[in-house]
Amino acid sequence: MHSNYFQQLTQGLQQQGTGTPQLILDLDQYQKNLEAVQSKLPAQLKPRLVVKSLASIPLLQLACEKLTTRRFMVFHLPHLLEIISAFEQVDLLLGKPMPIHAVQHFYQNFPDQKALNDQSNIQWLIDDIERLQQYLQLAQNLNICLNVNIEIDVGLHRGGISSQEQLIELLKLIQQYPDALRLSGLMGYDAHVAKLPKILKSPEKSYQESQQTYQQYKNIIQQQFPDLWHADLCFNGGGSPTFMQHCQQSVCNDLAFGSMLLKPSDFDLDNLSALSCAVWIAVPILKVLPYSQIPGLEMLNHLPHRYKAVFIYGGYWQADYIYPEKSRPHMLYGRSSNQEMLQVPAQCEIHVDDYVFLRPTQTEAVIPQFARLYVYSERKFIEWDTFRE
Ligand SMILES: Cc1ncc(COP(=O)(O)O)c(C=O)c1O
Repeated sequence: MHSNYFQQLTQGLQQQGTGTPQLILDLDQYQKNLEAVQSKLPAQLKPRLVVKSLASIPLLQLACEKLTTRRFMVFHLPHLLEIISAFEQVDLLLGKPMPIHAVQHFYQNFPDQKALNDQSNIQWLIDDIERLQQYLQLAQNLNICLNVNIEIDVGLHRGGISSQEQLIELLKLIQQYPDALRLSGLMGYDAHVAKLPKILKSPEKSYQESQQTYQQYKNIIQQQFPDLWHADLCFNGGGSPTFMQHCQQSVCNDLAFGSMLLKPSDFDLDNLSALSCAVWIAVPILKVLPYSQIPGLEMLNHLPHRYKAVFIYGGYWQADYIYPEKSRPHMLYGRSSNQEMLQVPAQCEIHVDDYVFLRPTQTEAVIPQFARLYVYSERKFIEWDTFRE
């Protein structure tokens, strides 16, 4: 079935393709993944789409419709601008703290603050007191009020606040300047939960611990700063690897995910087995040689050969060769981004102008390398633009 699928794609590409490497979206699989995710989400957890992992407006649009959400997590200033111009009434949470110069730059592009606030809610991510002071000053200079969401360390140790004292210090400053700063919630990313070697700690235990830490920070706001506590506070957590755990039980009310909807290979996790890969890189074959010859090691040419050598259009992507099966780059020949050599089993019927297929390991690294997604459904392709910046 696997090989039928790629042969069918090859035929499609030979008839309708560009003759250059193409990033293929399997639309039917993407829709199945969206349905599976929607069926798991409990009502109290609002989905938030991770823009860097799904960096294409139509791709995001489809997910917004299926999951009925207008919440996005953004990691890159140009993406913020793209989302604001493509969607209305959005809630945008920054997934990493933006340097103050980036925020200044952003507001320079939006002189009409009122129009901006009417159509979007932006939550800037704050990781420490120095950054909060910078944002406070900017808000005062521009005479605006900035929503601030506080990054908390729930075990990943990627920065953010890591003590109750730090949180209290931030909340006091926010409380002192209600015209310039508004607390919009907390963000605690828990990617370590699925990554820790099981021998160190089980995923269940590290998830519970991260949730307890999260709850403690929530309690501080509620108990010690009741004037900052409001019904709209956004308690964001998650990430694809802990999606299922959050669906079962979570102290969060807002869940960020993106990658698992396309399921690149870094997300081959037991608890995401309901989802399948929906994205491939298709690459034309330029040359097929009977065997690989390594410069300087021509004496090896006399040995029996189990592999052909195939040169392809491009290479060295953050992706694994998946079809034809057992294809792989040659260890001694090395990698090339321009014209990579692959070893393909000798019995494999493969010709110039056929295609090889790769599965990305991550989508956030691969999508920006392609200007368009080729969306495949019912043996036809349509084109969707991606964010290239
Ligand atoms: C803060 C934060 N939340 C959530 C995610 C999850 O994104 P994805 O589901 O695409 O892995 C990430 C990924 O980097 C992140 O940095």
